[in-house]
Amino acid sequence: MTNESLELEKVFLPFSENELPSSFLNPFPTLNRLRQTTPIRYDETRQCWDIFGYQEIMQILKAPECFSSVVPGKFENSLSLPESILELDPPQHTKLRKIAGKAFAPAALSQLEAKIASIANELIDRVVQRGEMDFVADFANPLPVIVISEMLGVEQNDRALFKHWSDTMVKSPADASPESLERLHTEQLQARRELEAYFQKVIELRRSDPQEDLISQIVHAEVDGETLTFNQIVEFCILLLVAGNETTTNLFGNFVRLLTERSELQPAVSGNPERLKTMIEETLRFYSPVQALLRYTKQDIDLQGCHLKKDDVLVLWLTSANRDPAVFDRPDELDIDRSPNPHVAFGFGIHFCLGAMLSRMEAQIALDIVMRRLCNIRLAPGAALTPIPSTFFFGLQALPIEFDP
Ligand code: HEM
Repeated sequence: MTNESLELEKVFLPFSENELPSSFLNPFPTLNRLRQTTPIRYDETRQCWDIFGYQEIMQILKAPECFSSVVPGKFENSLSLPESILELDPPQHTKLRKIAGKAFAPAALSQLEAKIASIANELIDRVVQRGEMDFVADFANPLPVIVISEMLGVEQNDRALFKHWSDTMVKSPADASPESLERLHTEQLQARRELEAYFQKVIELRRSDPQEDLISQIVHAEVDGETLTFNQIVEFCILLLVAGNETTTNLFGNFVRLLTERSELQPAVSGNPERLKTMIEETLRFYSPVQALLRYTKQDIDLQGCHLKKDDVLVLWLTSANRDPAVFDRPDELDIDRSPNPHVAFGFGIHFCLGAMLSRMEAQIALDIVMRRLCNIRLAPGAALTPIPSTFFFGLQALPIEFDP
């Protein structure tokens, strides 16, 4: 591995190691301070630009011709998916998005509604009499993995493996030491190879024996008379698994975290689908599951008085944009009726989250069931919130709760 490929992993080191434990659970005071003092700044240690302001982030997301999603060759590493839609610019991006978009169209998704409800009910059946559960392990983790396995048409029994692979792929380094970065790199490379081998087998099977599933659709999809290459299909499957799991799990966990922090909201939201909808949107803004996006400058460019050079790395802090007082009134207050709520938790522009409709649907169905079936949800006595040790994702590793059935 070159030194430069390690550099990209450094981008996701916490700003200051001293702030570690509290900043993973509550990075907002730090982000607010940085947004106020330096909406755009260069961090020498992490060797990247940090962008904190909503307008600045929108300006970048609206200009893919200047701020690319293609990882410059010198940075490519075990996490890169250079042939997936996430890391392509137009025109290649446009073509892949057309193919992928079909599988995520409303008509395709509505077929999943009943399945999501039955999985959610089954997961609650298992714990309801106990009066306590780890909401992350018992609900927020399994549900999105089962849904995406169902869509892709892969064995649900393999979901522990999926979870392990996707957790490994999204880990942040523990510290800046070369040993730590190297260890993480080796672990991620291993997970990546196992994932590739897994999907290669499934894709071969679906080529010769198509089924009614997403992998079969992608394998046989054509745009302008062309099908996707084998590598493009493998990377797309990996992207769906990783992008779809961690994020939706975190949305569920963050939502229930808010219910424990603000217990007076529970009666207001329970059994009220419209309120539930706006509360889900407010959770996405207030505790955004994806903290940051990466972009790379295509050429030297001036941005708000800063001179950026070609192939510079930009970290766009969505969690900060979603608390920007220039756009949101009382941004540090949770307002479950907030409207409009133009948060950027799903990104913006040509790479706007392909799974946004799916995860909103999952959240509306599954969290409605949680709220109807579990009353008086509270943090288990003596339990502490365990955050995911990542600067990229914002969520909980464990959320022990008690409730009345
Ligand atoms: C893209 C967030 C759920 C698949 C994105 C982006 C964000 C995001 C911020 C933009 C990336 C960029 O501009 O570089 C979220 C959040 C989710 C979620 C917060 C849940 C609460 C899902 C699900 C799936 C999915 C369930 C699929 C199963 C994708 C894909 C892209 C994407 C394929 C790339 C789109 C493109 O590059 O054109 N997501 N996501 N996401 N997301 Fe999601």
